[in-house]
Amino acid sequence: MSSSVVREVQFPKQPALQLIYDTAPIGLAYLSPDCRYLQINQRLTEICGISVEGHLGRTVRDCVPGLASAVEDIVRSIMESGEPVTGIEVYGQRPGHNDERCWITHWHPQRGPNGNIVGVNVAAEEITDRKRHERELRSARDTAEAALRRLKEAQDSLVEAEKLAALGRLVAGVSHEINSPVGTSLTVASVLESKTAKFAAEVARGGLKRSSLNEFLAVVKTASTHLTGNLARAAELIQSFKQVAVDQGHLERRTFDPSELTQRLAASLEPELRKSGLTLNVECLSGLTMNSYPGPCGQVLTNLLMNAIVHAFPDGKSGRIDLAIRACGEGDIEIAVSDNGCGMSADLRRQAFNPFFTTRRHEGNVGLGLHIVHNIVSGRLGGRIKLESKPGVGTRIQMIVPRVAPETGEA
Ligand SMILES: Nc1ncnc2c1ncn2[C@@H]1O[C@H](COP(=O)(O)OP(=O)(O)O)[C@@H](O)[C@H]1O
Ligand SMILES: [Mg+2]
Repeated sequence: MSSSVVREVQFPKQPALQLIYDTAPIGLAYLSPDCRYLQINQRLTEICGISVEGHLGRTVRDCVPGLASAVEDIVRSIMESGEPVTGIEVYGQRPGHNDERCWITHWHPQRGPNGNIVGVNVAAEEITDRKRHERELRSARDTAEAALRRLKEAQDSLVEAEKLAALGRLVAGVSHEINSPVGTSLTVASVLESKTAKFAAEVARGGLKRSSLNEFLAVVKTASTHLTGNLARAAELIQSFKQVAVDQGHLERRTFDPSELTQRLAASLEPELRKSGLTLNVECLSGLTMNSYPGPCGQVLTNLLMNAIVHAFPDGKSGRIDLAIRACGEGDIEIAVSDNGCGMSADLRRQAFNPFFTTRRHEGNVGLGLHIVHNIVSGRLGGRIKLESKPGVGTRIQMIVPRVAPETGEA
């Protein structure tokens, strides 16, 4: 059967159909069951660059050998199943061109009067530009992701460096603080040692005078007072250093009601409050539950309430401290400790959370309270903390912590 006969028989030249072929913005072709072009429009010839006439009656294998196997498979599957095949991507390169182009193709069986499949209609939409955009987008995304990864790594190492620096500052602070009571104790102990040696020599010589005995007793008494005081101070300091790095093993996690925790705390602070003429107002609905660390939570509240008692009302004025706990957002709890005391200057606010920053060193404060609070809230409890304070107005510390603490929070 010659190609022109095939065209006459199977693809009658209907003017309307021809017009669609000539003007459609997509590639169209009609293939015989043995993969010969019975019709093709100008647009689809762009795949191989052969003219419309050059295609007619010739096989796909003759015209676009690179695509022949795929096309033959598709046509065979349609002949066998009678089902259309859609959404197949086809890549082609015209001879002499090195830009690859891409089409998305749809294949539908054409049936004759007796229901037999007599040919296959192909519609092909060029998606070269879309593909290029997709490639560009993908590569832009890859580049952005790589940049993000690098940024994350840089950030991680910065965080590590900052942690190390903070640790360094902490160790320096600890040594500095502990140096004074331990140093004093050492001096006192060595004075005591030499006095004891002298006294022992006097005893050995015989004829110990009562005045020498009294003098030695006085020395021992003063020395032991100094030693007890300084060593107690050292022990107290060590206790507060230990709180900075809360021992991971001693942390109990459980479900608890923060209002019960606050009631107990308020009761234990009652004597301090009464002594200072301060009122503590606790506002906390019972029935809130948290699955978190009651120990560190209590430590945070104690530190903040003690700060309000110790720092906010320096001139012995009476005042008011508020502790409010309420549910907040999806799964968070807001805890706010505020006072109407002296407040803090901007300079003080900036330094308040630094380890060893205190305005009451002479009264024996160490300046670790807020540092510990910050560590616990942002580490172990997985929350965040905000300090607001105005000189003469008061201080408010707000914390938002999840009701269910993160599994692997650091203390
Ligand atoms: N409620 C408050 N009102 C005013 N100043 C405060 C308050 N809480 C903390 N401060 C200031 O912040 C400093 C740091 O507090 P903190 O870290 O707890 O150390 P410390 O209590 O040992 O001084 C305090 O010395 C004080 O100057
Ligand atoms: Mg404090």
